[in-house]
Amino acid sequence: MQIKNIFYIKNTKKFLEDKSLIKKYQKEIKNGAVIIIKNLFDKKKINILKKYLIEIGKNSLPEYQPVKVGAPNHHRIVNNDPRSFVKGTFHQFSFYRWNQDLIDVFEIFEKGFWIKNILSNRKKNDFLQIKPNYNDEFVARVSIQFYPSGKGYLNEHSDPVGEHQISAPLVVMSEKGPKKDFLTGGSYFYSKDKKKLFIEEIAQVGDLVIYDSSLPHGVEIVDKKKIKNNWLDFKGRWTAVLATNKIQGSENVRDAIDLQNSK
Ligand SMILES: [Fe+2]
Repeated sequence: MQIKNIFYIKNTKKFLEDKSLIKKYQKEIKNGAVIIIKNLFDKKKINILKKYLIEIGKNSLPEYQPVKVGAPNHHRIVNNDPRSFVKGTFHQFSFYRWNQDLIDVFEIFEKGFWIKNILSNRKKNDFLQIKPNYNDEFVARVSIQFYPSGKGYLNEHSDPVGEHQISAPLVVMSEKGPKKDFLTGGSYFYSKDKKKLFIEEIAQVGDLVIYDSSLPHGVEIVDKKKIKNNWLDFKGRWTAVLATNKIQGSENVRDAIDLQNSK
């Protein structure tokens, strides 16, 4: 299935208070529409966050940490790792609700989780409260991804959707175009005419992009001609996924599926 329609929402408050509008957009998402919530996040805060993450990325060792209650914030690199469910190359920074951090990452993005939860027929604050006896099978995670120019990509895949989430929405954090953060590639899904529809060509920094994440999508290699670029340059494309992940070991929801299967 391809993306059939794109809706731009400018008045978030009105949207959240109108149950019939929410029903309408739930239907549209399930029918393959993309919903773009304009200017939901503060661009200045996004820029401060990127600078902060570059410092962390350059000055501390990447490490893997499983998704579980109480997990630490951390960053890791994925470099064509054969163990990945979906093959890719990127630098990933993960933040959980129970950890405090210098930038208050959840404060920046929590509006996006509210909208996602409401569209998923959940309570606004589901997975976001810190309870001493938290035993949900799902946890909210801000997963910020950096795709370096010349190497960053993610194979086409389908993500799990279900009662925990209607979508794993994306936050646009970089600009695409001449003299911008990157020039070619990036996140895409398919439009009606079966052509790749690139997210940064229909949405801008600070926007939230909501779509049915079980539809085929991926990240085409960013700036494929810039092969001399390296990880430490931090030139390329940033994005954030507002994820609701199952904790490791839970079998309630399937894993993501790589549709290119080029392992
Ligand atoms: Fe995905």
